[in-house]
Amino acid sequence: MADSNGRPWWAHAVFYQVYPRSFCDRNGDGVGDLDGVTARLDYLTTLGVDAIWLNPVMVSPMADHGYDVSDPRDVDPLFGGIEALDRLIDAAHARDIRVTMDLVPNHTSSAHPWFRAALASPPGSPERERYIFRDGSGPDGSQPPNNWLSIFGGPAWTRVTESDGRAEQWYLHLFDAEQPDLNWENPEVYDDLEKTLRFWLERGVDGFRIDVAHGMSKPRDLPDMDIVKAEMLLADMDNDPRFNHEGVHDVHRHIRTVLNDYPDAVAIGEVWVYDNEQFARYLRADELHLGFNFRMVRAEFEAADIRHAIENSLAAAAIEKATPTWTLSNHDVDREVTRYGGGDVGLARAWAMALVMLALPGAVFLYNGEELGLANVDLPDEALQDPVWERSGHTRRGRDGARVPMPWEGSTPPFGFSTNPDTWLPMPQEWSTLTVEKQLRDPGSTLSFYRSAMRLRASRKEFDGTAIEWLEAPEDVLVYRVVDGGLVCVLNAGSQPVALPAGDVLLASAALVDGKLPPNAAAWLT
Ligand code: GLC
Repeated sequence: MADSNGRPWWAHAVFYQVYPRSFCDRNGDGVGDLDGVTARLDYLTTLGVDAIWLNPVMVSPMADHGYDVSDPRDVDPLFGGIEALDRLIDAAHARDIRVTMDLVPNHTSSAHPWFRAALASPPGSPERERYIFRDGSGPDGSQPPNNWLSIFGGPAWTRVTESDGRAEQWYLHLFDAEQPDLNWENPEVYDDLEKTLRFWLERGVDGFRIDVAHGMSKPRDLPDMDIVKAEMLLADMDNDPRFNHEGVHDVHRHIRTVLNDYPDAVAIGEVWVYDNEQFARYLRADELHLGFNFRMVRAEFEAADIRHAIENSLAAAAIEKATPTWTLSNHDVDREVTRYGGGDVGLARAWAMALVMLALPGAVFLYNGEELGLANVDLPDEALQDPVWERSGHTRRGRDGARVPMPWEGSTPPFGFSTNPDTWLPMPQEWSTLTVEKQLRDPGSTLSFYRSAMRLRASRKEFDGTAIEWLEAPEDVLVYRVVDGGLVCVLNAGSQPVALPAGDVLLASAALVDGKLPPNAAAWLT
């Protein structure tokens, strides 16, 4: 279905990322669930989102909180089972909110029946051919087959114990050892993915966020990697044999063939690739509809850096006449308030960047809690759950600080998130001022600001455009105009107030000072 401008529904949509563990808990176990999401749909309507992206809810031992899937065609009881998903889809559709879900094709859980069968079968067996098993290197095979590192830390290989006393093989896992990588050279793996896609599409899901969409295919000879930085965001994945291998495009073409049977469904890839030409390849007409471009997430709060991120994100999408995407945070990175310096300055910058992002042409992804101005939480060691903490030998704290449950109401934890005070991650008392309840009542809150911005974006024709042009601006200031629509967005990333260009101010992220835009602020003008 196209919108009033003739675009597919997702081309100018605001997607709201729900991290189901942390959104709302209805059954009182301290972990969020799908009935919790359904119960809070009015909130999402109030906010004005077009679609939800649910992090994985499939059956999983939760070694990586759902990114280790043991049954891709069912919902984990922790989240309420498959009926809870049906209820959510129906209720969301009744409110014109689409539901997209995470799909994890790069790996399964080590508890998946396929992996169990692989362990129970000898080297060279068809069961092992669904994964990437190899003999070790060194005289007795006691060294891993190559030097690849896990994104979470430590080697990307784990050795298994064979039952018949033969030399033990190793299996590849780019993430946790509980997440063995699938062998995408095996047609069985394709067939199974197709089954999974059709299963959810038939159930009414509106599309997928495809996890590690630049992974899956591996070079056959598995050459050593250059060990520079193995971490998620810092790795130079453009020249990394673990990722972005040519064969991955076959996988995307296959996914697209299936989605073409469901013309409204969208495929959105998590693509940690920076070279524009390489990135654009994922957006070819027979591959993904949308690809996450993470340049904005990586940009410092600095005019040149932000401009560079915007220009390149637009340029990359333009190569294939595809729709650009924008995101400031997700469940894998520090929240933007924290990245931009924390405290009042961090928050002011986050408001400013929200305006910069929401005026750009394309699809936008918000991460739950972003609209409340939440910052990362400093969690005590004993609360940490992300496998990164253990696998890095306690050198990297991992992503839990950005995954703390949402504060809804009341003045003490768990703030209406749950009836159970023992939430899966502890919630800070300081969030008593940041609850949805308080922010809805306060016209000066982050939530009220987001609601105003989203309302304008959805209703005003000034936001309609497929390109921007940069207008002249002083140093440390960015000014762009949405071509066609005409909206002007000004960002002051400097240290002095700046005069605004001619026009009426539609919304500003901070009060003007003598008619000027203060530092760490942005404004929309018509
Ligand atoms: C993606 C997910 C991340 C997960 C990883 C392994 O990067 O966003 O949360 O840990 O894939 O599935």
